[in-house]
Amino acid sequence: MAKRYILALDQGTTSTRAMLVDADGRVAGIAQREFTQIYPQPGWVEHDPREVLASVQATVAELLTRMQVEPGDLAGIGIANQRETTVIWDRRTGQPIHNAIVWQSRQSVAICERLQADGCTPMVRAKTGLLIDAYFSASKIRWLLDHVEGAQSRAERGELLFGTMESWLVWNLTGGRLHVSDASNAARTLLYDIHRREWDDELLRLLNVPRAMLPRICPCSGHVGDTDPARFFGAAVPIGGLAGDQQAALFGQACFEPGMAKNTYGTGCFMLMHTGAQAVPSRHGLLTTIAWEIGGEVEYALEGSIFVAGAVVQWLRDGLRMLERAADSQALAESVASSDGVYLVPAFVGLGAPYWRSEVRGAMFGITRGTRREHVVRAALESMAYQSRDVLAAMEADAGIPLKELRADGGAIANDFLAQFQSDMLDVPLLRPKVQETTALGAAYLAGLALGFWESRTQVARLWQVERRFEPGMAEAERGRRYRGWQAAVQAACVFTP
Ligand code: G3P
Repeated sequence: MAKRYILALDQGTTSTRAMLVDADGRVAGIAQREFTQIYPQPGWVEHDPREVLASVQATVAELLTRMQVEPGDLAGIGIANQRETTVIWDRRTGQPIHNAIVWQSRQSVAICERLQADGCTPMVRAKTGLLIDAYFSASKIRWLLDHVEGAQSRAERGELLFGTMESWLVWNLTGGRLHVSDASNAARTLLYDIHRREWDDELLRLLNVPRAMLPRICPCSGHVGDTDPARFFGAAVPIGGLAGDQQAALFGQACFEPGMAKNTYGTGCFMLMHTGAQAVPSRHGLLTTIAWEIGGEVEYALEGSIFVAGAVVQWLRDGLRMLERAADSQALAESVASSDGVYLVPAFVGLGAPYWRSEVRGAMFGITRGTRREHVVRAALESMAYQSRDVLAAMEADAGIPLKELRADGGAIANDFLAQFQSDMLDVPLLRPKVQETTALGAAYLAGLALGFWESRTQVARLWQVERRFEPGMAEAERGRRYRGWQAAVQAACVFTP
């Protein structure tokens, strides 16, 4: 019997999702599980890699049982993952030597400051397309090798392995047979030359990272290997796709032509514009990154990484207890005509693109005696749209291509108020697709194309459908006035030192 589904795994920052996709690109079923966020100190974020792995196994088990699908019904597996998050484990025992250091975590800031002071930025930027920032994996690896006793020498003896989450998962799902990553994830480590497409000796020397701990790079769409039946529900299922979650979302949004862009409103917010075979250097604070490598060909993207987006709503809910459910934010925001001059700059872990100011902290401006929680909630939602406008302006300037439309996905954009305000603020149409799980969908497409489940990108692009199109409707003067208020708020947040 023909295999009926591709299993997509979306291993994100706060939860893991498993999704079954059928040949028509429809989502047949989905399961999700949150896992523990560990905050050892202010600004530090860690995950237990074993708990993350368990969340994958639990979501898959739940999904297969609920959908009455046998592992043998799976044509293949595609994996998308939170990027940059760094795991180091023992090659022999398979045990992590420490918690995973999450992409948002700031514990390696001092390492980055040293590299900046040494004048390494131009070389790093030219090779990796990135900036020197604690966001990327390299300084996290350095931190782990410095802080776990004996780790440096064990790594040099080839006893320790490094990987981002896809690498950790593939290692475990294949019973420790494969230590691999893919170009879209490698491009986020700060150790990978995105032009020559290899781990770079100069960067490895700079960070003193032993080459022996690095994974082999596989294509984003290709038969990587099979699961070990002893580790995956008794079946050897081909793994056909690996990609960082934001690049997977770009693929899942069928942004295959230069100039097409998507924005994903998850924990953070990541806008990527496809730039074709050309790696466009940024002069405006964006990142140049590999979108994917397929069949030996690389396509590139420009990226604006915003560290806090949906997380601001979680903070209103869990930190301030202003909301019972995140979904209530829409009705509250719409119950007032405007934020009444309130601006919230959610720089909880510093500011990412295009500012790159890791020392800045969050702030709220424009509060009066008349400020109500509705205004604060509205200002929080608006902050996602303003940050995206900051990034889009940089993107258009770098790429020299004005954006025609923006494809949007991720949990927060289900909020109609945010979608409309975003379209207004960018002055471009915003397209929300029918399948909003585009990260998982992209992972499924990458795997399905490699394994013959789908034939071509053209076929995949035809499966993509719009659920709703939001047209910009705000007058230019009004848009300018509000955005200038935001810029003033960011400026003010940047000069504040406690
Ligand atoms: O670069 C970090 C990004 O990959 C995290 O994505 O969706 O888990 O917030 P998300």
